[in-house]
Parts: sequence; structure tokens; C-alpha cells
Amino acid sequence: MNPIYESLLSRKSVRVFEKRAVPDSIKKAILDAAFQAPTAGNQMLYSIIDVTEESLKKKLSVTCDNQGFIADAPLVLIFLADSRRWLDAYEEAGLTARKPGAGDLLLSIQDAVIAAQNVVVAAESFGLGSCYIGDILENVEEVRKLLHLDAYVVPITMLVLGYPTEQQKKRKKPERFAKAYIVHENRYRRLEPFEHREMFEKRAGQPDFDFDDYMRKFCERKYMSGFSLEMTRSSAVYLKAFLDKSEDE
Ligand SMILES: Cc1cc2nc3c(=O)[nH]c(=O)nc-3n(C[C@H](O)[C@H](O)[C@H](O)COP(=O)(O)O)c2cc1C
Repeated sequence: MNPIYESLLSRKSVRVFEKRAVPDSIKKAILDAAFQAPTAGNQMLYSIIDVTEESLKKKLSVTCDNQGFIADAPLVLIFLADSRRWLDAYEEAGLTARKPGAGDLLLSIQDAVIAAQNVVVAAESFGLGSCYIGDILENVEEVRKLLHLDAYVVPITMLVLGYPTEQQKKRKKPERFAKAYIVHENRYRRLEPFEHREMFEKRAGQPDFDFDDYMRKFCERKYMSGFSLEMTRSSAVYLKAFLDKSEDE
């Protein structure tokens, strides 16, 4: 198997890191890889915050649903969907450009996430583990203050990175769903009710798997949990502020 493909198949999230720093040369190399990601019109509609202050990591570990391992990560990168930079550049050039709108926001989110995934893959190639932190979307009011964001700059995802501990290396990678339920030909196909049950049972691969019990617990622990409700609230504030500002100015 070629090494890139092998790395894509074996990569799993890492949440416990060895207490050693990521050398600057490697940090530079993985940021170089981020920069080589494709972006819409080669605009690089993202910015990256390299969180080097330990006190800021601690605060973010709290705003991101109290996930303590964020504070212990040697490298923390926040990917901002950035519609501010080009707008300011247009203004600097004396142009009266339209304000960024929904399309710009969605494109910038794509740019930011693709760059982040390049970081994940490049980091893996240097023996570094990583974990996405979706909870960076929570607590908009506090995060905006901490990171000095304005309405056109949305912290779309965060990555924590470092050298995985032996225990993390041995941890089993979670199984995926079968392709038949996820890949559709030509048009979207809503799954039949029984297929949901089947899809989860196949993924679990255990005869005693209890779909109803699993779903109930997952729904309580994730979808209906406090952090998920907060993420939904906070994300709506980001969207509203971005779109309202587009209309206002
Ligand atoms: C958008 C996104 C947000 C995530 N947020 C978190 C998070 O806040 N905390 C966490 O521990 N893992 C987070 N993860 C990691 C997922 O839980 C993980 O990718 C998934 O369970 C599959 O496991 P694997 O990455 O080990 O294969 C996130 C992953 C993605 C892609």
C-alpha cells in the first residue's frame, strides 16, 4: 500500500500527548502543507491562530466544553473562516466592494477546513497525532473577546496536536459505516427506517448490539447534551452577526 493511502486509512484522533514540544521546524513544515491546500480562487479565505500562550489554551479548554486535554496539547491551531482580509484589501485599493455574504462564508469555511485537514495529514507524516475540536464554535461571546474576532471572522475549527502516548497509539480506531448507506448514485436517497438499524448493527459487528439502547444513550450524551445546545446557540449568533452585518453596511 502506498504510504499516503496507508496513513489516510490508519489515522485516528489522538487526545493524550507526550510532554514534549513540537519542534519549530516541524510546525513550520505542517503549516507549509496547510498553505498548499486548494482554496477558492487561490484567495486563502482563512486565517490560522497558533495558540502559544498556556493561559489561553487553558481558557479555550474551558470554553470548548471543558476538554482538559486541549490545555495539555503542545500545539493548538485555530482555523478562522476569514471574509475580513479580502474586504479590507478591496477597501485599501479604494474599491467599494459588496459586503461578504452567505456564499463567501460557505466558501471560506471550505477553505479553512481543507487547510486544517492538510495539517492533519502532514502532522501524521511526522508522527504527530491530532484531534479536531468542534467545540470551538461554543461560547461565541467569550471566544470573540479572547481571539479578537469580528463578525466577518468565524472560528470554524480547532486542531490540537502532539506526539501520541503509547496508550493512544494502541487505541482501536472507531469503525465506520458501510458505503452502501453513505454513498449514493446520482441522487440523494433517504434511507429506509430498517436500514438505520442495519447500518449501526453492521458497524458494531457484535450480535448483542442493542440499537435502541445505543441510540438513546448517544442522543442523550451528544445531540441533546448541554454542549450541543450551546454549540447550536453560539453558531447561530456567528451566522446572524455575519449575515446582519452584510445587510447593514
Ligand atoms: C468537525 C469535528 C469536530 C470534532 N470535535 C471533537 C471534540 O470537540 N472533541 C473530541 O474529543 N473529538 C472531536 N472530534 C473527533 C471525533 O470524535 C473523531 O474524529 C471521531 O470519533 C472518529 O474517530 P477517529 O478520528 O479516531 O477515527 C471532532 C472531529 C471532527 C471532524
